[in-house]
Amino acid sequence: MSENKTQQAPLLSVQHLRQYFGPTKAVDDISFDIYRGEVFGLVGESGCGKSTTGRSIIRLYDITGGSVYFDGTRIAAGWQNYKADVKKAKADAKAEVAAIHAEYQEKEAKAKDNPAQLEMLKIEKKEKLDAVSEKLNALVAEKTKEIKSAKHDHKYGNKDFTRHEVEKVRAKYEPLLEKERSDEEKAKLTKQYKEEVRLAKHDRIMNKIQMIFQDPIASLDPRMTVHDIIAEGLIIRGIRDKKFINEEVYRVLKLVGLVPEHATRYPHEFSGGQRQRIGIARAIVLNPDLIIADEPVSALDVSIQAQVINLLNDLRHQMNLTLLFIAHDLSVVKYFSDRIAVMYYGHIVELATSDELFAHPCHPYTKSLLSAIPLPDPRYEKKRKRIVYRPLIDHDYSKEGPTFREVAPGHFVSCNSEEFDRYEKEIAGK
Ligand SMILES: Nc1ncnc2c1ncn2[C@@H]1O[C@H](COP(=O)(O)OP(=O)(O)OP(=O)(O)O)[C@@H](O)[C@H]1O
Ligand SMILES: [Mg+2]
Repeated sequence: MSENKTQQAPLLSVQHLRQYFGPTKAVDDISFDIYRGEVFGLVGESGCGKSTTGRSIIRLYDITGGSVYFDGTRIAAGWQNYKADVKKAKADAKAEVAAIHAEYQEKEAKAKDNPAQLEMLKIEKKEKLDAVSEKLNALVAEKTKEIKSAKHDHKYGNKDFTRHEVEKVRAKYEPLLEKERSDEEKAKLTKQYKEEVRLAKHDRIMNKIQMIFQDPIASLDPRMTVHDIIAEGLIIRGIRDKKFINEEVYRVLKLVGLVPEHATRYPHEFSGGQRQRIGIARAIVLNPDLIIADEPVSALDVSIQAQVINLLNDLRHQMNLTLLFIAHDLSVVKYFSDRIAVMYYGHIVELATSDELFAHPCHPYTKSLLSAIPLPDPRYEKKRKRIVYRPLIDHDYSKEGPTFREVAPGHFVSCNSEEFDRYEKEIAGK
């Protein structure tokens, strides 16, 4: 991870992401940034919304609210919460109008014999009513703009990127063609130009993000050979050169620790760990910038888990990859992640560097996750005490609810003021 990552723009920025499934708020307003070259761990128990987060980033849903930026481009945006804001503002305005009418009905009744005062009241009332509708109109106009922009970006973010890529190719070739005098060279250049434009037209910003799935059995088509599984992305990408495709397939097979002979086989002929290697090969063949690995090892034997994690770690350095690594177990992400976000029921409750999180866990849920990690020494293991998180007992949010606050540089915790003071002291060792 680079030293001055705060000065660098994030590769992925998730802002106020919400993904609701009817009444289930699977992801409810989460924000985090991932910087180039970083491994970002997302941890939490089953059902807390980890996969939904990953799937929202790769646009498998029309998200309920918030934005996802990739390399500065908004690739996903939701607008349901803006709509909800408008609906609420309208209802509030209606209530305010009713209250004003009631107020002046009373005042006018009292002043019914005083025409001058009645006139005054009429003017006053109109001013108040105008103010309410002005406020409402301004809010509706603002939200309508947000909705329009979110809809545009969600729908066209990909297309805008492709258009931009095509323009880049044009900008590269047109001056070259202009300068070229020999007809033969010109024809050669034109051919190259056309091919690059064709490929750029197939280019999608989403190709730069690839996902490795939780279940290596369900995520590989059993009727396809390993070769075809890996080559599929290249073909979708518009590549037709068979020789190039074969070379690429063999290249990534080697990178993930498999051999060329494996290419003609089918997924069921492989062990769990090998299948996950095929999943990784499929993801890296497109040279992505970001890989979202959704519990890539949780279905594997413990002995195989370390191998697959080591492989991902090697690839990360070799290919300059950035990783969003999802796990339900802190021990899996500990050594591998630069920073870790802890998720609980749709929210991020704590976010810090890996070292800081293990040295100074603040949120009681993080502490409970840490207490679940088995210790290598059997003597200590015997004494290890599981901490159970009891949200209703562990927090008193009756007077003040939690917000996401920075308790130490780069260390964020969901807490209220009382907890904030306590956590600050805990970290300072007081
Ligand atoms: N397509 C869907 N339709 C309705 N509800 C869904 C859908 N996908 C997920 N959910 C619900 O959203 C919540 C979060 O699910 P998600 O799969 O994101 O959790 P997870 O943290 O990945 O869990 P696990 O560790 O078991 O993979 C759960 O309550 C789940 O039942
Ligand atoms: Mg999941």
